[in-house]
Amino acid sequence: MLIKLARASDCKMSEVTSESVYLSRRALLGGSLAGLAASVMPRLGLAADPSRYADVEPGNAPGWFAEKLGGTQWQAMTVQGEAITPFKDATHYNNFYEFGADKGDPAQNAGSLKTAPWTVVVDGEVGKPGRYALEDFVKPHHLQERIYRLRCVEAWSMVIPWLGFPLSDILKQVEPTSKARYVRFETLQDPKTMPGMRSGFALIQWPYVEGLRLDEAMNPLAILAVGMYGRELPNQNGAPLRLVVPWKYGFKSIKSIVRISLVEEQPQTTWQGLAPDEYGFYANVNPTVDHPRWTQARERRLPSGLFSPNVRETLMFNGYADEVASLYSGLDLRTNY
Ligand code: MTE
Repeated sequence: MLIKLARASDCKMSEVTSESVYLSRRALLGGSLAGLAASVMPRLGLAADPSRYADVEPGNAPGWFAEKLGGTQWQAMTVQGEAITPFKDATHYNNFYEFGADKGDPAQNAGSLKTAPWTVVVDGEVGKPGRYALEDFVKPHHLQERIYRLRCVEAWSMVIPWLGFPLSDILKQVEPTSKARYVRFETLQDPKTMPGMRSGFALIQWPYVEGLRLDEAMNPLAILAVGMYGRELPNQNGAPLRLVVPWKYGFKSIKSIVRISLVEEQPQTTWQGLAPDEYGFYANVNPTVDHPRWTQARERRLPSGLFSPNVRETLMFNGYADEVASLYSGLDLRTNY
């Protein structure tokens, strides 16, 4: 069990969102860590620099994942001069409200999530809609390791080595029609295995929904991740399939995806629906546009503590301006936050 010390600098969406949104906060259920099976570790040691993953807990990778790992392009993208966040922090300081509102709740409770079998539906404005078993969904794609900054709207950040493939690969495959303008993503909704949904602590309208403009979704930086730190995704990080859009606040990177729909209208997304004055549809990391309750000019890079707060300046588009700024030319980023 984790013991957390509250800090004045700890901004939490659950605290800053209007009080009416949260009725009660905690839902603690016993959870179990994934079983220990070291099958991916020898490959990892050979293929990548093992020292970067010194603290990784081995997972219990399904066969298809272990096979895919063999062809992985390691360090396809990295962040120069910034340390990778220790595995322990990336997996024990999480936001995954389906498993509770406190940062330690997902690690504590997400053991109940059943990640196999897993089905992903792709539908809407596409020429080739489909319903796929996860392994078939991933099979045609080569995994790449992308080491990205993750900047939460709550003003903390991490550097995480993801394993995934470009979202654009899937979108091209399903052939969007001329009407498709946005991509809508949906998380699994299963109150039986997701105690945060049962607790009634939040007025979140499940399922958790996120969205991107189609041109944002086609940007090569946007990936669908199936792993991190050289192994499959831990449940608390969004197993078995999550989105990663590194130039946007972390809430856009929706976890445990079951449905991807190409749509004509801008989708209603979870946090924008709950508190539209605080969380926008675009949610681009932007140090010049503050959250109504705190500055976005700086961030706390984890791990951080009382004596080493590890505070740094937040970068425009989280440091990915060269790759994505052109998506927003002519758009007022102050009103389209
Ligand atoms: N996806 C779902 N389904 N539910 C959530 O509560 N939280 C978001 C995002 N994806 C969330 C989610 C938020 S607020 C953040 S900051 C990131 O996940 C955190 O990802 P991490 O826990 O892997 O660091």
